[in-house]
Amino acid sequence: MVILMVLENNERAAKIEALLGKKYKLIYYDSVDSTNNIAKNLSREAAQEGTVILAEKQTSGRGRMGRSFLSEKGGIYLSVLLRPKLSVKTSVRITTAAAVAAAEVIEELSGKKAQIKWVNDVYIDNLKVAGILTEGVINPENQMFNYAVLGIGVNLVKPEGDFPKELKDIAGAVFDDADDEIYAKAVSGIIKRFFYYYKKIEDNEYIINYRRRLMLTGKEVSYEKDGETHKAKVLGIDDEARLILEENGETVKLSAGEVSVKLC
Ligand code: BTN
Repeated sequence: MVILMVLENNERAAKIEALLGKKYKLIYYDSVDSTNNIAKNLSREAAQEGTVILAEKQTSGRGRMGRSFLSEKGGIYLSVLLRPKLSVKTSVRITTAAAVAAAEVIEELSGKKAQIKWVNDVYIDNLKVAGILTEGVINPENQMFNYAVLGIGVNLVKPEGDFPKELKDIAGAVFDDADDEIYAKAVSGIIKRFFYYYKKIEDNEYIINYRRRLMLTGKEVSYEKDGETHKAKVLGIDDEARLILEENGETVKLSAGEVSVKLC
């Protein structure tokens, strides 16, 4: 159930809109179940590409692989509606380009090195500070998207009273403290940088920057597939963001969405 208070004339929203410019339509909520849900509903009502749903908190924030995403005040929770002219095969570029955009802007604003853990988690000092969940509907006739919703969550600061015990060793925040200015710069910066890469997504330009930030290169990882645990060394990623591994002397490629890998 989605009930919400749309924040009008809110100072933060005004700052973000000023930085974003008129190309994007920003809809800013106090609290929603999930910004991805709102964006999906809007997509069915013919909302345009570039519509951005932003919330101060989410009550049912979703992560990848059926996980939940803690979404207390202090974070950025946004979804961008896209109408990509991309095949399913190249759709991984949306998510991975967004990871690069988020990592670059987070690093520029904080001065802290931001890395990407395959597929699309952003880390600072080995703690996850941002995650991305792209959801979409494919037209079965041509295998192209009817729409896609790109959801980005950033732990800009810690939730009040800190992260819960189970996340303390895994999750981190970008800043100790962040005012409206920083919040607005982070939101607008991530959206604009993402669209910069998205407009040229066929060229795959962003992949070079993804490779530079991949924190797994050269590391030993484990992953589960078909009920078995595998151990392998990460060599890098290919142009479709598949993870390239060396496993028992052989080269193996893993597709995004297929498995998740853990550092050994
Ligand atoms: C992950 O880390 O597994 C992905 C997290 C994605 C969270 C964002 S927050 C905005 C959007 N709305 C959601 O419910 N999820 C995404």
